[in-house]
Amino acid sequence: MPRDLHQLLIVLALSHVAFCLCSARNNVMAAAEKQTVGVYELRKGDFSIEVTNWGATLMSVILPDSKGNLADVVLGYDTVAEYVNGTAYFGGLIGRVANRIAGARFTLDGETYRLYANDGNNSLHGGHRGFSKVIWTVKDHVAGGDNPYITLYYHSFDGEQGFPGALDVHVTYQLSSRYVLSVRMNATAHKATPVNLAHHAYWNLRGHGHGSILNETVQLFASRYTPADAATLVPTGAVAPVAGTPYDFRAPARVGARMAGLRGVAGYDTNYVVGDGSSFLRRVARVQDGATGRGLELWADQPGVQFYTANGLAGVKGKGGVVYGRYGALCLETQGFPDAVNHPNFPSQIVRPGQVYRHDMVFKFSF
Ligand SMILES: *[C@@H]1O[C@H](CO)[C@@H](O)[C@H](O)[C@H]1NC(C)=O
Ligand SMILES: *[C@@H]1O[C@H](CO)[C@@H](O)[C@H](O)[C@H]1NC(C)=O
Ligand SMILES: *[C@@H]1O[C@H](CO)[C@@H](O)[C@H](O)[C@H]1NC(C)=O
Ligand SMILES: *[C@@H]1O[C@H](CO)[C@@H](O)[C@H](O)[C@H]1NC(C)=O
Repeated sequence: MPRDLHQLLIVLALSHVAFCLCSARNNVMAAAEKQTVGVYELRKGDFSIEVTNWGATLMSVILPDSKGNLADVVLGYDTVAEYVNGTAYFGGLIGRVANRIAGARFTLDGETYRLYANDGNNSLHGGHRGFSKVIWTVKDHVAGGDNPYITLYYHSFDGEQGFPGALDVHVTYQLSSRYVLSVRMNATAHKATPVNLAHHAYWNLRGHGHGSILNETVQLFASRYTPADAATLVPTGAVAPVAGTPYDFRAPARVGARMAGLRGVAGYDTNYVVGDGSSFLRRVARVQDGATGRGLELWADQPGVQFYTANGLAGVKGKGGVVYGRYGALCLETQGFPDAVNHPNFPSQIVRPGQVYRHDMVFKFSF
């Protein structure tokens, strides 16, 4: 698409943004009006990504396959304007608290906080206007060279979407070596608040729009998961072994191999326990596509990973007019456990003033 048309669509998107923020807070609207939304490329040879500061969103990841054919392996839209209305969270940076919070409420330091219920009675992915639906400030952008990177910053105001205290958030996307993408996040709080950021790329290693991922091979380095209510996907609070269940991906298995054994749900949308709370990078998952030879290995330092097989995706018109359907991608959202604020037995997500929240992800691609 020509860049001038692209810019026009961004202007349209921005007028929509300014309109929406009017109902929030005047100073926020004023700040938003000074920001511009753009698309930023990072490139290292034939490996490249595009990021927009709308939602700190990863729009594309392009890499070769074993025959040298390039493909874009993440789902998304051609223009930023389409992300403004989108409901799938394609490539978005999710916060302040990713995943579900039961009853859209929690109690912290004796005070009860009410959030927007945007998923039945629950809060999902930070509420109506989470971090994937706001304009971030581009702090730094180096498009090429040895270490292309972009750093984005967002100041979340006190009370935004119901959460306590202001929060300063940074995310850096970097092509740290050939075919390695790292996503590094940090946040500091002005008052005690839950923080659970997640990066929400939809991966299809065959190439976005190339049908279902049910035949891709997945390995998850997790022997336990947090069972959830089939209707609301809110954890019961239990931590259960995957052994003997359709959730067992300790050995590489086709995504669709045991899906028929899932009860009451159309696919995986499940939190796996990958860490013990200590924060060092560990291997989380491997994905392999037999047809193209492309592989992905994910390392991260979070307690959990939400494995989602795009069960809710239906007829979404994406890049190049391709229509994405159910199982058109898979998501590996490293993060804390869902609804941790309401489960004292889950690793805490509370960040207090003086503490630094950190979350590192490393995607290593092969072909
Ligand atoms: C987004 O939604 C608004 C309101 O429904 C509509 O006017 C606008 O055309 C939509 N934008 C895009 C890019 O689809
Ligand atoms: C929301 O809560 C109300 C009251 O407890 C309940 O009747 C209703 O079924 C809940 N809705 C959903 C979608 O879970
Ligand atoms: C968060 O990351 C940004 C960008 O890398 C960095 O400038 C900042 O110092 C980091 N903050 C903390 C508290 O580590
Ligand atoms: C699934 O993958 C296997 C091996 O990776 C291959 O033999 C088979 O043809 C594939 N099936 C489909 C429907 O793509």
